[in-house]
Amino acid sequence: MTAKYKFPEGFWWGSAASATQMEGAAREDGKGLNIWDYWYEKEPNRFFDGVGPEIASNFYHKYKEDIKLMKEIGHNSFRFSISWARLIPGGIGQVNEKAVKFYNDVIDELLENNIEPFINLFHFDMPLELQEKGGWESREVVNAYVEYAKVCFELFGHKVKRWLTFNEPIVPVEGGYLYDFHYPNVVDFNRAVQVAYNTMIASAKAIEAFRSLSIKDAKIGIVLNLTPSYPRSSNPADLKAANIADLFFNRSFLDPAVKGEYPKELVEIIKREGLMPVVEEKDKSLLSSNTIDFLGVNYYQPRRVKAKACMPNPEAPLMPDNFFDNYEMPGRKMNVYRGWEIYEKGIYDIAINLRENYGNIESYISENGMGVQNEERFIENGRIEDDYRINFIRDHLIWLHKSIEEGCNVKGYHMWTFIDNWSWSNAYKNRYGFIQLDLKTQKRIIKKSGYWIREVSKNNGF
Ligand code: BG6
Repeated sequence: MTAKYKFPEGFWWGSAASATQMEGAAREDGKGLNIWDYWYEKEPNRFFDGVGPEIASNFYHKYKEDIKLMKEIGHNSFRFSISWARLIPGGIGQVNEKAVKFYNDVIDELLENNIEPFINLFHFDMPLELQEKGGWESREVVNAYVEYAKVCFELFGHKVKRWLTFNEPIVPVEGGYLYDFHYPNVVDFNRAVQVAYNTMIASAKAIEAFRSLSIKDAKIGIVLNLTPSYPRSSNPADLKAANIADLFFNRSFLDPAVKGEYPKELVEIIKREGLMPVVEEKDKSLLSSNTIDFLGVNYYQPRRVKAKACMPNPEAPLMPDNFFDNYEMPGRKMNVYRGWEIYEKGIYDIAINLRENYGNIESYISENGMGVQNEERFIENGRIEDDYRINFIRDHLIWLHKSIEEGCNVKGYHMWTFIDNWSWSNAYKNRYGFIQLDLKTQKRIIKKSGYWIREVSKNNGF
């Protein structure tokens, strides 16, 4: 078949997943607890249908079967994360040999199936003991993370060539310190800024440690969720609001990661509002000399913004939203289940922005996807006919292809996610996988989109 949309040779086709969302075996083989195990134990009511992370999609026991399925649907690459609390229970000290064996087995199985492993070091899952020491607010925890990162590079660096320091580091900031959807459920802008800052220090220190090992042919990056900010109109007040949202939600991580420094405008706002974090003398040079080799972009939805309509309540906690209002554009296309707008061109706008303003850094789409509720209603002859997901992917790929034709340095496209998995407090509400997971039997069945992506991968286009 000659593809109309042909992608560059060696394009990465695959998916991403995370330890807590797929492994299960939450209390097996010496794994320590992380904040999710703990929060679920304390407040199961905060999780959809009261389902916690203890079983998830059971990758810990079913990785062989799952990797076979990945191969079957045409994956040539797969990103997963290491569970810090599994590898080093408690977060500091003794390495858990059973975890080393498990991750080695997974990596070997992937390599044997010609699937390139991308390893992410942190996907929202702080070991509980370290959260009790202050989590990302604490420099001691930052240093513990760097030790953990070194252990991972030393253990697996000879086999794994693509490393990521964090997945969406802004999400624990938003969820845990501003908007109450992650443990520790703090609402405090000041502390949120410290957490954000320390996370980037941790990332830069891990990159420094990685480079000092000079692992042959290996690269290190970060995964950021970029949400392009579109103003309601060209009114200067709307433009200003959109710019602030962009500074808070994109450039707060993108600039230090790629350029090694924070945007001046952002620093001015943070100073003006009295939100400056505690910094150390060497941080500036640490950040500027340890920028990433490549960037993973998670793209789900745009952010539409307008100037603030009302004065915020002066007694309510200060929030990023004190500086702008979210804008519900009439006629926008919605994924009603997740409540997220679908705007395919956003993927193109991100790539162009990286080309224009970030030195055209090597990048790939590290997550894109569509969570849908009650997918069983789409079963026909035993298979989920998820044409909506196929359309979603195809329409994003068309825009991604255009960006590549225009010179953007995009190397691949990973879906969220391989198999229906546990989605934090949404648990199993929305299903994202190419593969259906029957929660009762743990049976895996390829959806129509899985067969579709196999063809796309085989033809390197469509
Ligand atoms: C990304 C995360 O934000 O989106 C994943 O990296 C997450 O961990 C995915 O599962 C989908 O979002 P949600 O909230 O529907 O699970």
